[in-house]
Amino acid sequence: MPMVLAPPLGVRTTTPSASPENPTGVPGPFTSGPPLRKVAFLRSSTVNDTDDIGSNPTTNVHLDDLIRARLNRRQVMTGGIAAAAVGFFGRSLAPAPAAGATTARPAGRGRPGRLVSFTPVPTSTDDTVHVPPGYTWSVLVPWGTPLFAASAPWAKDGSNTAAEQEGQVGFNHDGMHYFPLGQGPAGNRHGLLVLNHEYTDDTQIYTAAQASAITGDAAGREKVAKALAAHGVCVVEVRQRDDGQWEHVQGSPFNRRVTGTTPMAFSGPVSASHPMLASELGNPPTGTLNNCAHGHTPWGTYLACEENWNGYFGTDDPGWTRTPLEARYGVTATGFGYNWHRAEPRFDVSQNRSELNHFGWVVEIDPMAPGSVPVKRTALGRFKHEGALVTEHAGRVVVYSGDDENGDYLYKFVGDAPWQAVRARGLSPLDEGTLHVARFGEDGTGVWLALVHGAPGLTASDGFADQADVLIRTRQAADAVGATRLHRPEWVAANSRTGDVFVTLTNGSVNSGAAVNSGRSPNNYGHVVRLREPSHRPHVLTFDWDVFLFAGDPEYTALGGTKVPADQPLFGSPDGIWCDPDGRVWVQTDISNSAQNLASRGYDRIGNNQMLVADPDSGEVKRFLTGPRGCEITGVITTPDQRTMFVNVQHPGESTSFWNAIGGAPTTDNPRSVSNWPDHDPGGRPRSATLVIRRADGGKVGT
Ligand code: FEO
Ligand code: CA
Ligand code: CA
Repeated sequence: MPMVLAPPLGVRTTTPSASPENPTGVPGPFTSGPPLRKVAFLRSSTVNDTDDIGSNPTTNVHLDDLIRARLNRRQVMTGGIAAAAVGFFGRSLAPAPAAGATTARPAGRGRPGRLVSFTPVPTSTDDTVHVPPGYTWSVLVPWGTPLFAASAPWAKDGSNTAAEQEGQVGFNHDGMHYFPLGQGPAGNRHGLLVLNHEYTDDTQIYTAAQASAITGDAAGREKVAKALAAHGVCVVEVRQRDDGQWEHVQGSPFNRRVTGTTPMAFSGPVSASHPMLASELGNPPTGTLNNCAHGHTPWGTYLACEENWNGYFGTDDPGWTRTPLEARYGVTATGFGYNWHRAEPRFDVSQNRSELNHFGWVVEIDPMAPGSVPVKRTALGRFKHEGALVTEHAGRVVVYSGDDENGDYLYKFVGDAPWQAVRARGLSPLDEGTLHVARFGEDGTGVWLALVHGAPGLTASDGFADQADVLIRTRQAADAVGATRLHRPEWVAANSRTGDVFVTLTNGSVNSGAAVNSGRSPNNYGHVVRLREPSHRPHVLTFDWDVFLFAGDPEYTALGGTKVPADQPLFGSPDGIWCDPDGRVWVQTDISNSAQNLASRGYDRIGNNQMLVADPDSGEVKRFLTGPRGCEITGVITTPDQRTMFVNVQHPGESTSFWNAIGGAPTTDNPRSVSNWPDHDPGGRPRSATLVIRRADGGKVGT
């Protein structure tokens, strides 16, 4: 197969001031902004952020009540990094010993700068990317990049067809992993990048003539088909040239698209033939949708997670009413405004409601086997999986996964036996194990509660028919055992040196339920919670917990900016989180576009979304990267030598209240009103893309 090499799209070296790429000339940072006005953006036409709408009807304890109680009792918040950033409940968490160490350094007594020694970047409102002095960034595999030998080039007017989109990199890059190709050092320069494409924006993927509306005709079906083709997962071969730049390999036999129409297998307790999966239209399980964060396994596969899948379904049938199961999963007649059901009955919950049960799973994909059928691993539960962090202890896999909706839960799957032994028996380690849900205690401890049919609350008399029923209705099973409600659990990361587990709770600004007040009411900015499991054995079912970082702007105490150390870099709404092999904690933000840059929401001084690094030993936090307008920063991984970092910029140019007030909301006529990153082509449109970040001297990223 012939290989065609595409050139890199550009290289930028950071500058500390406004970029010449700032096309609208709007200065920053802003100290005030226009009044908040709700805008119609794709994920919701009527609310600030669809994830903020909880669907948990229980009065289960909320973590924020526990945090408030602990704060009130201890009164330890004195500010400063040592007190807060390293865990203000430090007394309750024994210091984590480094692997192999016999004694441990007390938390918060580390040496600042040991792990994180770059010069931080300031906040930014520029329509570009900034990285620290001495670092460079370039753009790799933006939306529309042709993958196969015969793939069509990206059309900057949005005119690529659905069929053409199937041969191109998808839309809205999200979770991502790098799989080295070749042994040893060669794998640092050549590998497979596997990345999720979370959702589509109908002002950007369609032409001006097509416009956004989905109609019940051939034109509408073509538009839905293009959206489905732009979702899912991309596997793309990438390599570093001799001049240091990275490029993708068009036509590589590894290149692959998994989309909203790819055939899927089911495995684990819920089979594809389960009656609750029998689509009324007769279609087999196809496709994966809203793939947000991800995971990867010790045996070299990729896990794509299905998050806000409920938003794609809807109906115009006025007689449709939702079942308790559908209500618990946030299914509504209007969905998130995609209106796919108007062109495709597959997504009409009145005509094809069992289709809903095809989604909410973790999907395993083997990137080294392009012809393999992706498998939905049902033992990991069905909810709005943000991600699936896989760790390993004594050979057994442990998978952590947040259910990102306001008031929902944190889960942990524990394998039954060492994964290599399970695979030797021809079975999947992700099928053989037990799913648990977290219950946090006010004393700083917690337990993992097994979601096993027959356990108290999960019996036939409780309404659960069998284990498959428990898993299809995971949220309701977790309700029944008394899991702890959380403010939107997003990514999970684990420090491989200490075993500490970090969970981002992005925010909980609205509809939080009863008595939610972490002492930072409302929870406008989010925080990072840390779990420590006894002796760092993650299959043990107890843990200690504290708050590792409180995000926010301390100038906005009325908006929840309390408890933030004065010397901590400003950031809010943590989402992506990843511990690199040295233990640096990389934190990425996803401030809602209804709040981004707005003084009325306490986000004007924070600027555009960004990525920071925390040293878990010293508690030092530094801002490493700022993104363009309207984007979120999500997805981060390095090559094994840590000298090349890949970071995703998602939804640049999405409808953003602040920028809409200046340049108008994006439309298919003008998709460039918020951002035109990265191309800044007057006739083009913004594109999500992967950033390649390197040190100019070739050193390890982050040091
Ligand atoms: Fe897709 Fe919870 O972020
Ligand atoms: Ca996310
Ligand atoms: Ca998010």
